[in-house]
Amino acid sequence: MTVRTDARPLDHPLAMLSGAEIIEAVAVVRETGRLEDSARFAYIGLHEPGKEMVRSFQAGQALERHVRLVIVVGPEAGVIEAVVSLSDRSLLSWTLVDDTRPALLIEESMLAINALKADPDWQAAMGRRGIEDFDSVQIDPWPAGSFGAPHEEGRRICRCLSYLRETPEDNGYARPIEGVIGFVDMGRGKVLEVLDTGVVPLAPERGSYYPEDIGEIRSDLKPLAITQPEGPSFTVEGNLVCWQRWSLRVAMDPFEGLVLHTVGYEDSGRVRPVLHRASVSEMVVPYGDPGPMHGWKNAFDVGEWGLGRMANSLTLGCDCLGEIFYFDYVSSDERGRPHTLANAICMHEEDYGILWKHVDLHTGRTEVRRSRRLVVSSIATVGNYEYGFYWYFYLDGTIQMEVKLTGIMSTMGIEPGASPRHATVIAPGLAAPFHQHLFNVRLDVEIDGPANTVYEVDTRPSPAGPENPWGNAFDAVVTPLKTELEAQRMVDPATSRCWKVVNHSSTNGLGQPVAFKLVPGPTPTLLADPESSVGRRARFATRNLWVTPYAPDELRAAGNHPNQHRGGDGLPRWTAADRSIADTDVVLWHTFGVTHIPRPEDWPVMPVEYTGFTLVPVGFFDRNPALDVPATGGGHCATPPGLPPVTDDVQRRDRRRPR
Ligand code: NI
Repeated sequence: MTVRTDARPLDHPLAMLSGAEIIEAVAVVRETGRLEDSARFAYIGLHEPGKEMVRSFQAGQALERHVRLVIVVGPEAGVIEAVVSLSDRSLLSWTLVDDTRPALLIEESMLAINALKADPDWQAAMGRRGIEDFDSVQIDPWPAGSFGAPHEEGRRICRCLSYLRETPEDNGYARPIEGVIGFVDMGRGKVLEVLDTGVVPLAPERGSYYPEDIGEIRSDLKPLAITQPEGPSFTVEGNLVCWQRWSLRVAMDPFEGLVLHTVGYEDSGRVRPVLHRASVSEMVVPYGDPGPMHGWKNAFDVGEWGLGRMANSLTLGCDCLGEIFYFDYVSSDERGRPHTLANAICMHEEDYGILWKHVDLHTGRTEVRRSRRLVVSSIATVGNYEYGFYWYFYLDGTIQMEVKLTGIMSTMGIEPGASPRHATVIAPGLAAPFHQHLFNVRLDVEIDGPANTVYEVDTRPSPAGPENPWGNAFDAVVTPLKTELEAQRMVDPATSRCWKVVNHSSTNGLGQPVAFKLVPGPTPTLLADPESSVGRRARFATRNLWVTPYAPDELRAAGNHPNQHRGGDGLPRWTAADRSIADTDVVLWHTFGVTHIPRPEDWPVMPVEYTGFTLVPVGFFDRNPALDVPATGGGHCATPPGLPPVTDDVQRRDRRRPR
């Protein structure tokens, strides 16, 4: 069953922008007379209200709504950042930001593709490869990065790669047209240069993943149905979701994609705050092949493309299973017109195995509870790759964030028989360069309130000696992270390193200060040289943890405008001040992800690879908060009747013996 949000009431300062609000914001900007018709809107989003306003808001109170816009007025490298008040239809700010590029615009990407296809140098390069039907070529504009090339200066440029698709259904990435890069001025739709590093034979295979090309399809999978005859256990009002003790607000930003606000846990009739806001603040995909065709390749898929801009409508296919609730997302096109993406955010419940269990060996009494999680997710298709962003909420107070990586790898054509050092051969004449996917999630925590302190916790062997005579002891070494520079940290699986966020002014029933810990996964950091172009631009990815004092305009780990940026913006710039982060309103920035050494099994479409982290309560509660979860009915989990209590190993073995 599918429930749809037909209307989203504007009932809260953090309600998602409506189409009417987008129209109104653009009208206010246009009425100033400062914009030509040719102006394009690279971003229209909610300018979020201050924390005090959110905390003090009462239902029914008048709403003060502000909209932030990034406007492109010409082909030069500059944007206008504006903030509009909808309440009194006024312009609150209007700033020209020089030497800055917006994210790649869709309209300009089309302009670049058409310009390149009409370019005689590009056509000649295709001709040298025996390609005469230019309609059969797929062109992918890539963010150009920042390499100090003369034509980067003062322009919005892209680097275009070409792929052969002999039929519209072909997988373009199966047949990269190796050796050809088109540099295009996107603002002017003008080809600057076509680089041809030499002909490489086209890979011979089509790389189809469509069922009609696979051969025999499995016929022995029986149906697996998820049914909730009484409906789901969550409620939705506007963008407020309540499920079990959890409450949160769900939103979508053009760049960050899925955004969670005001995540709290109800405890004894009181909502205890955990997160004020959580989102993916940036991500980078740096490639590890040094050649002229691939050495420059990296993509900041938040800031250069936008996870909300590229979000899927989950109407097609089968992205979520069970009793689904979908949120629509009203985005805007580059002319400032609202556009509704139906079913952009999916929400449902999933069974997740056992939550807790014990068999009392003396009485035979078994207690077991099923784990269940609330899943809030969205999927973005950024060129060849799909990224699924999943937030999970569990019955025991745990929060998990998981990214599912799938789609098609970026490929390179190779000479027959070649074995490249920095890429994996995945099909005849085809390789996939080594690369990384590094995500940065911004966690604006408020564990029982805004005044929080972050500690690093490592488990280490205790020194041998009179206090440790058997040499078995180990310590949990707790180190406070007091300033921003102290808090630039790496994961350390050997010490089970985690980062604990403590509120010293709130204690549990045992007198301990309440906390949540960030438990990282086995995650890498950036492998590129920190002084390389991508190393400077993706400095956030050189550390697994950063902590900053809350500042409302510090939202994106690589800065607001990473496209063609020379680097240093975002986290490295802010944290250079080495501000204090002790006992204050802190923000955690966690970099995590995968280093992808491609496998043949990742071709032609990649089975999902997972990465992420968890946020786990530590003394936030007095005991296991999920004792009150009822046992599941239906008899599947009950102690089988007629069996004697188990008291020793012999009897346990007896019980297993077939009768
Ligand atoms: Ni990958």
